[in-house]
Amino acid sequence: MIKIAGIDIGNDSVKVVVDGSPRPILIPSIVSPGYDRHILQEEDSPLKALDVQIRSPKLKKSNQRYFVGLLAMEDQDNSELEETDNKATSDQSLVVALTALAYAAIAGQSHPVGGGLEEVEYIIGTGLPVRSYVAFHRAFEERLVGEHEVAFLSTPELHGRTVRVIIRRAVVSVEGAAALYHLATNDQLQVKNEELHGGCIGICEIGALTTDFPVVKRMNIDNQFSTGEQFGLATYLDSIIREVEDRFGYRFPSRTKLIGRIRNREFTVQRVGEGKADIRPIVDVYFGRAAQKLVDLIRKRWKKYPDIECFYVLGGGASALRSYIVEAAGDMRLRFEEDSELLNVHGYLKLAKSKAGQMPVAQD
Ligand SMILES: Nc1ncnc2c1ncn2[C@@H]1O[C@H](COP(=O)(O)OP(=O)(O)OP(=O)(O)O)[C@@H](O)[C@H]1O
Ligand SMILES: [Mg+2]
Repeated sequence: MIKIAGIDIGNDSVKVVVDGSPRPILIPSIVSPGYDRHILQEEDSPLKALDVQIRSPKLKKSNQRYFVGLLAMEDQDNSELEETDNKATSDQSLVVALTALAYAAIAGQSHPVGGGLEEVEYIIGTGLPVRSYVAFHRAFEERLVGEHEVAFLSTPELHGRTVRVIIRRAVVSVEGAAALYHLATNDQLQVKNEELHGGCIGICEIGALTTDFPVVKRMNIDNQFSTGEQFGLATYLDSIIREVEDRFGYRFPSRTKLIGRIRNREFTVQRVGEGKADIRPIVDVYFGRAAQKLVDLIRKRWKKYPDIECFYVLGGGASALRSYIVEAAGDMRLRFEEDSELLNVHGYLKLAKSKAGQMPVAQD
C-alpha cells in the first residue's frame, strides 16, 4: 500500500507526518560520520540513536554511514547546514529526509517474520523557499523520486533492519504558503476559514536559514509580491554562540543545544574554573535585533501592497521571537499560531493528499 506523507526538509529539523498517524516525527538536521560506537547503555528510543547506512543513486556519496539527529548533536565532527547550503541539492538534507521516511515506515512495528528487506512506497508533499522554488523545484522532485535504501545499524529497537524507501511522487510547494493552506482547510481538505481562503494574506515564515514572505490571494501565490530573505533564526543563534564563547569561554556544541536551552528558559551557563554566567542579556540583544529587522521588512511589504488584509508570522522562528516581535511591532497587528514550526508539514501532507486524489499514480 502507498503511504501519503508530508515532509518538511528544514534546515533546522526535518518533520514528517504520515497520513493516518497522529503524531509528527521531528529529527534535527544534523549529521556526522558514523562509526562502530561503544555502547555502554543502549538509548531508550530509536530517535536518540539514528545510526544508518544509506544507498541511493541520488546521493553524491552513496553507501556511507551516518549518525543522524540527536546522536550527531554531541559529535565533534557534526555539521549543521549553512547559509550557502541548498536543501534542494544538499546530500545532508537528503540523508536526514530518507532516514526520517524510513523511520516513519517501521517505527512501532515489529520486524516481519523471516526478516529481510522491508519496503515502503510513498507519495510525499514537500516544499522549497520562495526564492529557490522556481529554479530548483524540478531538481528537488527528481532527487527525491526513486528508490533508496536505509539500513539501521546500532539504533535501538531497529538494528539490523533495512528499509527500501520508494518515493513514487513528490509534490513540491512553497514554504509558508503551505502553512496557510493548512490553516485555511480541515482534514477533509474543505475550507474551514473563509477569511483566509478567500482573502489576500501576507505571511512571514521564519525558518532557520531562510525567511519567506509569500503573499497568498484566494489561495494562489502572488508571483509579483512574494519574496524571501536569506537569513533566519540560525543566523542570530550563531552570533549568540560566538559572543557567549568570547565573553564566557563557554561553547555550545550546536545551535540545537542553544535553542533547547532558550526554549526551556535556562539562561545560565557553567564557566570553566567555577562560576556561572547569565546569557539572557546576549539573547535579548540578538533576538531584539532580529525582531526589529523582521518587523521593518513586514511593514515595508505591507506598505507596498496594501491589499494585504492580515499578516501571519509563522515558522519556528516565530515561536522563538514572538514576544520580541510583538514589542517591536507596536500597534501594527500581527497574527501568530501555536506550534507554528509544524504548519508547513501539515500543509504539505494536505497538498499531497489533494494531488494524489486528482491523478493516478504512475505504476511500473
Ligand atoms: N517552539 C519553538 N520555540 C522556539 N524556537 C523554536 C521552536 N521551534 C523551532 N524553533 C527554532 O526556530 C528556528 C526555525 O525552526 P523551523 O523548524 O521553522 O526551521 P526549519 O524549517 O528547519 O528551517 P528552514 O525553514 O530554514 O529550512 C530554529 O532555529 C528552531 O530551533
Ligand atoms: Mg522551514
